[in-house]
Amino acid sequence: MIIAIDGPAASGKSTTAKLVAKKLKVTYLDTGAMYRAVTLQLLRSKIDFVDIDKVSAILDDLIIDMFDHKGVNIVKINNEDVTGEIRSSNVTKYVSEVSALLSVRESMVVMQREIGHKTDCVIEGRDIGTIVFPNADYKFFMVADIKMRAKRRLKEMKQFGIVKSVKEVISELESRDQKDSSRDNSPLRKAKDAIEIDTSNLSIDEQVDKIIDHIKIK
Ligand code: DC
Repeated sequence: MIIAIDGPAASGKSTTAKLVAKKLKVTYLDTGAMYRAVTLQLLRSKIDFVDIDKVSAILDDLIIDMFDHKGVNIVKINNEDVTGEIRSSNVTKYVSEVSALLSVRESMVVMQREIGHKTDCVIEGRDIGTIVFPNADYKFFMVADIKMRAKRRLKEMKQFGIVKSVKEVISELESRDQKDSSRDNSPLRKAKDAIEIDTSNLSIDEQVDKIIDHIKIK
């Protein structure tokens, strides 16, 4: 069973997807974390992102592991724990550029499909219901008011010691939305058959219940 949850940054996807997966006792897959892991590795290598051969060589040598440890979604690249580092401002700044690269997307989609074919899971991202699993059993698209999204992102950043103003975060989110939605390869889009959930005025429990209710009804 595949439950696809797509939507823009800070729309409430991650928290909801994690809890839905926990309630249903299935795997949780954060595909944004995968793109962040690739971005970190490319930034460390200091190569030019447009150098397709070098990007491909890095992808070939990159092993991404993701697993739950005491409720924290741990991300490792080549056995190094980068859970915190992939949330840094620098990775966030470049992740839209990196995730727009065709070779990066192709490689990540192969990994995502492998995981999804092996186990029941809740997969969150931008293109899960449209490209990665167009035949997903359930598809949801989460949206929220920009101010609400910025507040949520600020709270999340605080956990990693990053301090910014609401204005700054709104501007970053808008810029990322624009890049994620306008790219040629798998842009952020609601699948025609996805159920839209506006989380602006919903508590986390309400968001989770909405999804679980849809799954029970169908
Ligand atoms: O969900 P997030 O903010 O951690 O995602 C980071 C970036 O990864 C986001 O700017 C878009 C990209 N992404 C993507 O292109 N496709 C996905 N399935 C998931 C994320």
